Amino acid sequence: MAAAFPRCDETGAWAALQRHHQGAGRQFDLRQALDAGRVAAFSLQAPHVFADLSKNLVDAQAQQLLLQLARECALEAQRDALFRGERINATEERAVMHWLLRTPEGARVDPALAGDLAQVHGTQRAMLAFADQVRADAAITDVVNIGIGGSDLGPQMAVLALDTLVTPGKRFHFVSNVDGHELAAVLRGLRPESTLFLVASKTFTTIETMTNARSARQWFTQAGGSDVARHFAALTTNVQAAAEFGIERTFGFWDWVGGRYSLWSAIGLPVAIAIGGAGFRALLAGAHAMDEHVRAAPLEGNLPLRLALLDVWYRNFHGFTSRSVAPYHSALRRLPAYLQQLEMESNGKRVDRQGRVLPFATAPVVWGEPGTNGQHAYFQMLHQGTDVVPVEFIAAREAAHDLPGHQPQLLANVLAQAQALMLGKADPGGHKHFPGNRPSTMLLLERLDPASLGALIALYEHRVFFAGALWGINSFDQWGVELGKVLARDIAPRLASGDVAGLDASTAALVARLRG
Ligand code: F6P
Repeated sequence: MAAAFPRCDETGAWAALQRHHQGAGRQFDLRQALDAGRVAAFSLQAPHVFADLSKNLVDAQAQQLLLQLARECALEAQRDALFRGERINATEERAVMHWLLRTPEGARVDPALAGDLAQVHGTQRAMLAFADQVRADAAITDVVNIGIGGSDLGPQMAVLALDTLVTPGKRFHFVSNVDGHELAAVLRGLRPESTLFLVASKTFTTIETMTNARSARQWFTQAGGSDVARHFAALTTNVQAAAEFGIERTFGFWDWVGGRYSLWSAIGLPVAIAIGGAGFRALLAGAHAMDEHVRAAPLEGNLPLRLALLDVWYRNFHGFTSRSVAPYHSALRRLPAYLQQLEMESNGKRVDRQGRVLPFATAPVVWGEPGTNGQHAYFQMLHQGTDVVPVEFIAAREAAHDLPGHQPQLLANVLAQAQALMLGKADPGGHKHFPGNRPSTMLLLERLDPASLGALIALYEHRVFFAGALWGINSFDQWGVELGKVLARDIAPRLASGDVAGLDASTAALVARLRG
């Protein structure tokens, strides 16, 4: 696959988009273009997610050229390679099949993948049975997930998002940082006999997770815990390392599941304990519905693809350097952090699949906070700052609480912010001038539940895949996180010994200061 598909800048559409952007494309004014016809043309219904893309800086010609770009980059063929289980993660020689984890029994898959699918379903049954068993076990009151990156952000985000469905009497804790303050704060409130530790690590070698897991086990025995087998479980592809660590109960997964795409695997166990096996299956079903949408929808109606095209248009033609995500649902408060890993670890790349340095920009910075909080913090900059930042609003029509008056206020605010960004406000005096014509996307759910959350996450996963495919990069490796790990291994013993030989002058001085 690596050499087979054109990179975005090698296409005729790319050159045409450049010409268009230098002319009419750059002048486009939303306020003049927006009417009911545009809203209809730029609205899409995908499974569980409705999208209004009409307030984006895309005119009809840019839209046509972006779709032409998708065709010239053979995005449909690239998508089909993903779903055939080809080794599209070429630098690690791995297939990319997180989507298989949410494929239900009886669904169509390439016959070559039938064996993998059977293994997926076998492991899933065991994991969900265990989840329901823990759920029913009143003696376990606290579940502590020890993991980092994809082994933390997804389950943590999902447990928070589905908070109203969490089994009464169970508390969930997520410990990721090697900074001992985090684990110590959690352990302070726990008793060994009522705690279940889940050691979540794809590789079972990650220094933060192993350090925290060792400290948790030590605390467990020192605090009088006796049954490690009952109180520790491992979620990993490295079953042997988990056994060597002394954990008997392991739920496995496979190297074709990337860390940041692993929520659907055994890494999702905290979510399954929180909302039950049936709830977890609903999460998988929502994501599968989005997979089917991606496979079947024509390019112009394919929501993840349309969002990826906007990403390219904004990053490579308008030169916007970031995108803000504003979930108007406080239960989605960890979604921006989750998306930071998904998008920036996947597409924060500077070379293409052949290793050639890219002459254009890739992943934008992704950041955000829930609304309405963000409005009282950084929205000033979104409305009147010097940079244009496309904003992605996410809201749910129905609330999961019955407090009167709140939901209409919340929804009024999300609509008002998108409106204000677009309309702006003239102030001849200056300080109260809002330039307007600032782009936003509105993603609406009926309600936040396991199925819609699954669909929303899968939407983002596929969008990242399509953007990476347009840029011609491998979205599924993460070599950029390795160098710091290697250097930390070198520095750790120096902090103990004081040996600074061979270190750069700044690091040597800082080591000396921190030892003092
Ligand atoms: O940050 C690098 C990374 O490899 C992520 O991709 C991954 O999610 C995280 O570390 C944790 O890795 P593991 O699950 O193997 O402990």
